Amino acid sequence: MNITLKIKRFNPELDQQPHWESYPVEVEPRDQLLDALHKVKWYQDGTLALRRSCAHGICGSDNMRVNGKNRLACKVLMKDIAHEGDTVTVEPMLGLPLIKDLIVDMEGFFAHYRSVMPFFVNDDPVPADGRERLQSPEARERFDEGTKCILCAGCTTSCPSFWADGQYVGPAAIVQAHRFIFDDRDQAADKRLEVLNEQFGVWRCRTVFNCTEACPRDIPVTQLIGEVKKALATGRLD
Ligand code: SF4
Ligand code: F3S
Ligand code: FES
Repeated sequence: MNITLKIKRFNPELDQQPHWESYPVEVEPRDQLLDALHKVKWYQDGTLALRRSCAHGICGSDNMRVNGKNRLACKVLMKDIAHEGDTVTVEPMLGLPLIKDLIVDMEGFFAHYRSVMPFFVNDDPVPADGRERLQSPEARERFDEGTKCILCAGCTTSCPSFWADGQYVGPAAIVQAHRFIFDDRDQAADKRLEVLNEQFGVWRCRTVFNCTEACPRDIPVTQLIGEVKKALATGRLD
């Protein structure tokens, strides 16, 4: 099929503002959007800047706004977003500072991520046999959804509360916090909940659901946020 990719371009050395540019591209229906972007970069304009790595929905580096919604370019098939002759719009994620073309500065996003202590905390001695700290399947299941997160930022950068000023800790950080808060082997749930109870913590979530819709890993993000809110409101982790 022949389609047009309308891409928001910005070169900080030349441009005052981002602007749209259009590129005609021939694609197969089962091509990824990432393939189409490569056709532009490799054969039409090598200056197009975008992040990507794995091309298989694992590294989380190619999230962008496609026809107005956050998607991973490598998980979007052309047949699902365009027909012959259509125009597909591609923009950088919203709410983070623009660096160039489709690349945004992720530092603010990762600062929020780091703020919730996204690592396992347990000061008990290592089990004598040197093996893992065992856990029941049911206890493991409790935080399973959060383990699927690939930190693509699609949720946080689709959230109006985050767009306001970037101070809201954001759904991705809450999902990561949830993964450890509800892990019965971890010992720092109180500290994480303290962070999430602050001014720009979990209560900034207004249950808009954009995050859940944007998640390429089908994580029920809003539900996990609700579980953290409930833990704060009740003081219980059940
Ligand atoms: Fe991406 Fe989903 Fe993780 Fe958000 S929760 S960062 S959308 S994988
Ligand atoms: Fe934002 Fe998701 Fe809450 S879009 S307001 S974090 S439900
Ligand atoms: Fe790795 Fe798309 S390139 S998730």
